[in-house]
Amino acid sequence: MAAAEPEPVTLTTRWTAQRAPELHVGTGALGYVAESVAVARTRRPLLVTDSGTRAAGWPDRVAGELIEAGLPVTVWAGVRANASDLLVHELSRLITDGGHDGVIAVGGGSVIDVAKAAAGLAAAGGTLLSYEGVGLLNAVGPPVIAVPTTPCNGAEISRHSVIATADGRRFSVSGHHLAPQVVIADPRTTLTAPGQVRIDTVIDSLLHAIEAYLCRSASPYTDVWSRSAVESIAVSAVPALAEGSATAQAELMKGCIAASCAMANANASVVHALGYPLTSVYSIPHGRANALVAPEALRRLEAAAPERYRGLWPGRTDLADALAGLLDSLGVARGLRRYGVPKDHLPELARRAETYQPVLRNTRVLFSQEELLDVYRATWEARGPAGAATGPGPAGREAA
Ligand SMILES: [Fe+2]
Repeated sequence: MAAAEPEPVTLTTRWTAQRAPELHVGTGALGYVAESVAVARTRRPLLVTDSGTRAAGWPDRVAGELIEAGLPVTVWAGVRANASDLLVHELSRLITDGGHDGVIAVGGGSVIDVAKAAAGLAAAGGTLLSYEGVGLLNAVGPPVIAVPTTPCNGAEISRHSVIATADGRRFSVSGHHLAPQVVIADPRTTLTAPGQVRIDTVIDSLLHAIEAYLCRSASPYTDVWSRSAVESIAVSAVPALAEGSATAQAELMKGCIAASCAMANANASVVHALGYPLTSVYSIPHGRANALVAPEALRRLEAAAPERYRGLWPGRTDLADALAGLLDSLGVARGLRRYGVPKDHLPELARRAETYQPVLRNTRVLFSQEELLDVYRATWEARGPAGAATGPGPAGREAA
């Protein structure tokens, strides 16, 4: 019997776009911090960051501008990698006890996610886990101003935060008022982030745009952002990450912000479902985990949305091949075996991936556990350049 014709791709006929934060994007945007704090009527700002970002100097530079503007600011550099709900509780208490009426998050996605969740929790009370799910953390907390210091990856725009439990499970909280009020995205701040972090963040951002375009909840609104994002990132990623020219940096930041706007309104799909277990079990950074599984996962989406799959990447008709080529150009080591993932653990990873139902249901093709395993198997074998494998304890080692 002939294979069934894939369903024609149709855009959703009813869609909603969330209120976007005020955006200040481009070289020199940092100069808007003090004004933004004043407009938010914040008198006692708390600046939230992590030790690595503080060492790069940006938090103290921002604090200096606020002090100069007559705003006493407290700096808290307590965010850690894979921040847990307990850390959010700690920061939430700090906001409440210190009478802080505004939060400035200076750092990568983890810093911004923690700041958003803590600000919301400070108003809502209780424990963060009690708000797990969609649209449950709705209290109006102190306004958050996001100053991303890695290429933007969605946290600065979206109204949800992804946090880990003490045992490493990732969960999300969201609410109408959880998105930052203002985003200040100055590409100069991203230049001090470690090279691998920058690469992984850009790939994550690119995948946000791609997944938003291919997923079930794509809309005319998100399509505009997705197309703009892929165009910018595809053109600028290699020159921006390799040379750091100002023009390429500006183009890259533009693309990453556009991807964030797409993702905030269309959400992720199967690539993220496959990536999450690699981060929680093997500590492979989020963007790298997604990069590893994406080529094989995307390949399996072509039949469900052929026009979209073939028409998104400028000048290329095979989306998965185009992405794999970019990963190779950036020196991203591929193949799960090179990240210390044992082959016999792939079924357990597939079982875990299947638990991320909200993002799996947003995929145009419903992946069974066996099909998820099939992607992991193909990804385990994948070959690419001999770049650095980052993440877990056994990073970079071949696994059996
Ligand atoms: Fe992501």
